Amino acid sequence: MPPPLSPPSRIGLLTGGGDCPGLNAVIRAVVKEAIFHDIAVVGFEDGFQGLIENRTRQLTLPDVSNILTHGGTILGASNKADPAHYPCKQNPDGSWVYEDRTEQCLEILDTHAIDALVVVGGDGTMTCANPFVQRGINCIGVPKTIDNDLHGSDITFGFLTAVQTAVEALDRVHTTAASHHRVMAVEVMGRNAGWLALHAGLASGSDVILIPEIPFSLDEIARVVKLRSRLGKRFSIIVASEGARPEGGTQIIDRVVENSPDPIRLGGVARWLAEAVENRTGIESRYVVLGHVQRGGTPTAADRILATQFGHHAMQLLLAGKRNRLVVMQEGRLTDIDINEAAGTQRLVPLGHPLIAAARSVYTSFGDAPA
Ligand code: F6P
Repeated sequence: MPPPLSPPSRIGLLTGGGDCPGLNAVIRAVVKEAIFHDIAVVGFEDGFQGLIENRTRQLTLPDVSNILTHGGTILGASNKADPAHYPCKQNPDGSWVYEDRTEQCLEILDTHAIDALVVVGGDGTMTCANPFVQRGINCIGVPKTIDNDLHGSDITFGFLTAVQTAVEALDRVHTTAASHHRVMAVEVMGRNAGWLALHAGLASGSDVILIPEIPFSLDEIARVVKLRSRLGKRFSIIVASEGARPEGGTQIIDRVVENSPDPIRLGGVARWLAEAVENRTGIESRYVVLGHVQRGGTPTAADRILATQFGHHAMQLLLAGKRNRLVVMQEGRLTDIDINEAAGTQRLVPLGHPLIAAARSVYTSFGDAPA
């Protein structure tokens, strides 16, 4: 094992992938602690895009003043810039020409005399960091995503705020659904993981929760809706993860963003469900897509605390001379794992997860046939 590194004197910081509430809280925590230890922080704008294009800004205490409560990221983010597979120009037929810009980025890091890079992001960002780890750049990862699907961490910051936002929306949908005796299908984000739908569905008392990990049966959803109707509950709330799919069917893709490391954009399942459920039950069914609303807004207190803890732990790793670690939360304990462990994998909801059992215990359906 190589000996610990000396504490850095200049670090780079970037926020990659889709934004989420709490990014600014991490930036604030890293910059404040770094400056306390006389470490300069160079922020790269728009994630790896700013590293490729050498767009930087020195981050000082005034830059991070009063940002704890702000959603988004003061540095900007991008989910289209993988330096090792960079889409540099588009052909007339729409396809992209890719180049490996790793070498160019290494020169830029060298120009700024950067000793270590703090990358705040999800699995895509950790994957983008991998070639730099291979080339000897010390990368420290901080896990963010509203999807909560980063391998190795029980929770990512941004997730709890997105859950709260979705729950507030679902509570509002509830009263209008009840007044009009409608079925409402509400689509939440989450990519291939059902964490957001599971938590928001449970917290809002939704009647049906559809997650990618449990393929659903339309007949079963219709049975639940009709049963509720017979019992005098003339409305039903279905919360559907954007990645949910019917048994034997496929996910609904909204678009393919070819020049992105994460090209598949899911979307459309709630609309499809509303039509199918109405056809099967005869009960008017409508849909709502919460979309990017879930990524915006001020972080909840829990996410401000988590993001600050993550930023602090990242700095502690750097000060201790640790290399290539990802800050994680495991069983309520703040710790760290090898950054490469999180690259290219997604943490899905295990079928035996206690929240699934808890939801079933209050008669919530997952759209699968009853056991
Ligand atoms: O990973 C976060 C996320 O919001 C997913 O839940 C969603 O599928 C995706 O990003 C949307 O990406 P974009 O902002 O590029 O549409």
